[in-house]
Parts: sequence; C-alpha cells; structure tokens
Amino acid sequence: MEIFVRPVQRTLNVAAGVNLLDALRAHDVPVSYSCLAGRCGTCRCKIVDGNVLDSGREVQRPLGAQDQYVLACQTFLTESCTIEIPEPDEVVVHTARIVKATVVALEDQTHDIKRIRLRPSKPLDFSPGQYAQLQFTPDHIRPYSMAGLCADGELEFHVRLVADGRVTGYIAKDLKVGDAVRVSGPLGSAYLRRKHEGPMLCVAGGTGLAPILSIIRGVIAEGMQNPIHLYFGVRSERDIYGLEWLEALKLEHPQLQVHVVVTSGQASACRTGLVTEAIAQDWSSLDGFRAYLCGAPPMVEATTLLVKQMGVLPEQIYADAFYASGT
Ligand code: FES
Repeated sequence: MEIFVRPVQRTLNVAAGVNLLDALRAHDVPVSYSCLAGRCGTCRCKIVDGNVLDSGREVQRPLGAQDQYVLACQTFLTESCTIEIPEPDEVVVHTARIVKATVVALEDQTHDIKRIRLRPSKPLDFSPGQYAQLQFTPDHIRPYSMAGLCADGELEFHVRLVADGRVTGYIAKDLKVGDAVRVSGPLGSAYLRRKHEGPMLCVAGGTGLAPILSIIRGVIAEGMQNPIHLYFGVRSERDIYGLEWLEALKLEHPQLQVHVVVTSGQASACRTGLVTEAIAQDWSSLDGFRAYLCGAPPMVEATTLLVKQMGVLPEQIYADAFYASGT
C-alpha cells in the first residue's frame, strides 16, 4: 500500500500494520519526534485522506473533519492514505531521555516564584521553549519549562509555589542545593521556529516567562533578526520578575520590545489590564506574525482566540498551557 506525504509530495510504499513514524523515518521524511510514547506531541501529523489505526484509542476509526490529527508515533497504517507533516524545514529531533541532575542554586524571584538551577550529569538536548518532567522524589514529579539553552551546561526552571501544593510545597520546604533530581525530556512542541524571519509575538503569563526567555535567548544565539513583541502578564506588581534579564536581552537584541501588563493595581512603567487587551490596543492586524503563548490555560486560550482573529495562522500559534495542580 502507499502513503502520500504532503507537503514534501512523496509517495512511500509501506507494509500494512507499520507504525507511521517508523515509516516516515525509514524513508528519510523529515519529521519531528522526541518521546516515542505519545506524550510530547512533537510528532503530530494530519490525516488528509484514509483511515489509520490509533493505538492510543485501540480502535480503527474513520477520521472526520474534526478528528484529523494523530501522533505519528502512536499510529499504525492499515490502508493507503494521505498525510500532512508539519513544517518539514523545522524538524526537531531530540530523543527523550532521563538525565540525573544536581540542584546547584535555589533563588527566590518573588514572594512565590523560585528559580531552580540544575547541573545535569550529561547534556540534555532540547529546543528553546521545550519542557521536561522533574522528579524530585518518586512522589514529587512535575513538568517545568527550561528558561535557558542547552549550551548553558545548566538547566534553569521557574516554579510558582502553589498554596497547599504538594510538589511545590516540597520544593519550598525540602529541596536544597546538592539534592539529586531526575530530568526527563525534552517535551513540547511550542519550540522556536528558526527558519521564520518575520515578527514574533511572545506572550508570557507568570512563570510562562521561562520558556519565552529560552525562545528569545534562542533567537539571539541563532543570530535571528526577528522583531519580537513580548507581552508579560502578571497579577500585580509583586509578581513581576526577570526585568533585569529582559533589559539585558534588549541590549543584545534591540528588536525586542517588552510590555509588562499588570492585571490589578498600578505599577511604574507597566500597563494595567489583560495581555489580550494590550495586544488589541497595540495592533490592528497580526498578519505574518508567529505567536508563542505560555502561561495559565485561560490566558493561553483567550490569547489564542484573539491572535487567530487578528490574522495569525492557526498552525503558526505555538502554545503551552501550564496546568496548575494542587495535588
Ligand atoms: Fe510522538 Fe512524542 S514522539 S508524542
């Protein structure tokens, strides 16, 4: 049987029952992947025509208009079909792995945000904007985004301490310099697209600043010249952090513009309201932009809706919502 792959316009002859990601890789079709286990989302493909077997659901299902996306690593081919792979010129392959790391620094950034720096025993390859699972103990595991670059030699994470949070409570009270942490990753598909040369809209809510810092640092490290418009939303003045890093990045990348938006109260040199309101005030159209959105789910959802309405193509919105968990 045959699968036709868009947009590279290739026809692959494959045996029935073969895994889609294996088939793409065996034929040297450029495709991103990481975990091979249906967790990271980087291998997402669109089924344009035909049926496939999605092992995550253990059923063969006809694919309707709303249900066309599959994870290639979890998909088996049962008949000839047409698939569309995303951005073949932006392929990212960092095989997910588990690395042991040691806590080298713990710093308070605000009343409830801690910056954790880890030294991994082996380098962990990742793209700017990705995240990893941190396992502090077998019972204390959470995903956090890297704030730096893999060339740093250290891994930096920003953690907001949640009231009564079991894992963040452990981080606040028990974690100390010298402790071992298992880092598993990288995960996530909201990574920097390096081939894009147009303007970038970066929206960070709270500790969503961490992956956005990584993305901006990645732009600078790659020598990209893109204009970057960063909207950093926080609840109130005491939640603002990282301004000194942003100032330093502006010196390196003068095309970076930073808007700090405070939801309630006033703060000097900041705007008041929601990030969506600030973006709508500043722009009449976002045609040609790519959008990187990181933070709490309501902010990410509202901003996704807005930027779509303002002209950003849905496939050029890269979003990671942080789901807080109190358990
Ligand atoms: Fe398929 Fe991670 S490689 S979901």
